[in-house]
Amino acid sequence: MNKTLIFAHRGSAGTHPENTMDAFQAALDAGADGIELDVQLTKDFIPVVIHDETVERTTNGTGWVKDLTLAELQQLDAGSWFSPSFSTARIPTLQEVLQWVSGTQLILNIELKNGIVRYPDIEKKVLELVEQFNLMDRVIISSFNHYSLVEINQLNSEIETAILFMEGLYEPWNYAKGIGASGLHCFLAVAVPELIIGAAKAGTPVRPFTVNEDHHIQALISGGCSAIITDWPEKAFKIRTTMTE
Ligand code: G3P
Ligand code: MG
Repeated sequence: MNKTLIFAHRGSAGTHPENTMDAFQAALDAGADGIELDVQLTKDFIPVVIHDETVERTTNGTGWVKDLTLAELQQLDAGSWFSPSFSTARIPTLQEVLQWVSGTQLILNIELKNGIVRYPDIEKKVLELVEQFNLMDRVIISSFNHYSLVEINQLNSEIETAILFMEGLYEPWNYAKGIGASGLHCFLAVAVPELIIGAAKAGTPVRPFTVNEDHHIQALISGGCSAIITDWPEKAFKIRTTMTE
């Protein structure tokens, strides 16, 4: 059986401010195989890495990402909310992260956050950047907005896409294949054995989120998931090492 990969959710979000270069570097240092991050568009249509549609929770600013220019967003402190020691952290652009990823071996899972705000042409803008950095073969694009994944596949049929979902769907690998997506990124609670085993038989990778408890990490590694998406990559790495020794 292939090794279960460890994807750091928003970087090493358990130990560092999520979706910042500090969190991504920490994930790399922790031994993660990949990182997951979230992308929204600024007022001037630049892809930036931030989870929420608004900046209040993770910065010292106010307002919607879509209403702020890149220059305005880059003024914000994206680390102090987590700890004063991260006060220099900023909201990264996707371009900045891709540049950094290209100097590593990491797999990059880009989640398009286009459910609440429908960002115009986010699919095209993100694909162009991935192509520019020649990272097509180690980027996975996921979204809860499956229309967006279909659009990605129409623009570039080579790139790997994965459906995000929260519900206990029946044989979701059939649905994923039907829309041209190749992976299942499901909420942890619906990653039941029937799904993990069935997807493996169908050759469809399963990468549940957000897998933080030791017993869940162990169960999904023994169950044979392709990857787990976790806030605690260092801990997951240690657990996996213990299990495979
Ligand atoms: O991509 C997995 C996970 O990040 C989806 O949920 O809300 O943490 O972006 P969320
Ligand atoms: Mg996400």
